[in-house]
Amino acid sequence: MDTTVDLYDIAAPFYDFFTAPLLKAARGIIVRTAKTQKCRRILDVACGTGELATMLAKAGLEVNGIDLSAAMLAVAGRKNHPGVAFFRGSAENLPFESSCFDCVTISLALHEMEQNMRMGAAAEILRVLTQGGKLIVFDYAPLYNRGSALGLALMGLVEKMAGREHFRNFVRFTRSGGIKQLLEPFELTLISSRFSFLGALQVATFEKNW
Ligand SMILES: C[S@@+](CC[C@H](N)C(=O)[O-])C[C@H]1O[C@@H](n2cnc3c(N)ncnc32)[C@H](O)[C@@H]1O
Repeated sequence: MDTTVDLYDIAAPFYDFFTAPLLKAARGIIVRTAKTQKCRRILDVACGTGELATMLAKAGLEVNGIDLSAAMLAVAGRKNHPGVAFFRGSAENLPFESSCFDCVTISLALHEMEQNMRMGAAAEILRVLTQGGKLIVFDYAPLYNRGSALGLALMGLVEKMAGREHFRNFVRFTRSGGIKQLLEPFELTLISSRFSFLGALQVATFEKNW
């Protein structure tokens, strides 16, 4: 197990208390986007404590969530919504058939992965997504102006507390284009984008048209 998982062993019991108020607005955007895009069967990759997955299920969608961390999944399981099934597993090796979800969400996880793992996870996500399916990503935007520089610097302090490897991956992610680095190698179409926290964070919706 890598340090990411150890970190979440410690953080899991407190994660929702500290993050839920901060992430509520972005999660609301993701749920509304999934509804607008007429998604029905959703996979939430790196679902953590299952907060987003549960919100999606409450909105009437059929949801599966998957995460590496048993501690985070234990918190998710206690939310006990009948519309969500949780699995333990890795984003780079999803235990699902190809083209079986019309929507995949991934929130605040790509930035903390090492580059090869991130690209492997993205390829796997696109394997399980149908043609025409939507990928909704919530994560860091690239640095593009003074406001976003300030936002990224402030978020960098939080990322630093998560450990050296975590911080290094965050820096590489933002320097290599943030969320938009998924566009070229995977030939996705960006269909909507919303920025928050001084432009440092972004909810981006992509379509897989192949
Ligand atoms: C910052 S938390 C985000 C959790 C949740 N998506 C949210 O928005 O609150 C990152 C999550 O990614 C998970 N994770 C990291 N690398 C992963 C991987 N390769 N496969 C599956 N889950 C992973 C961690 O266990 C953790 O639960």
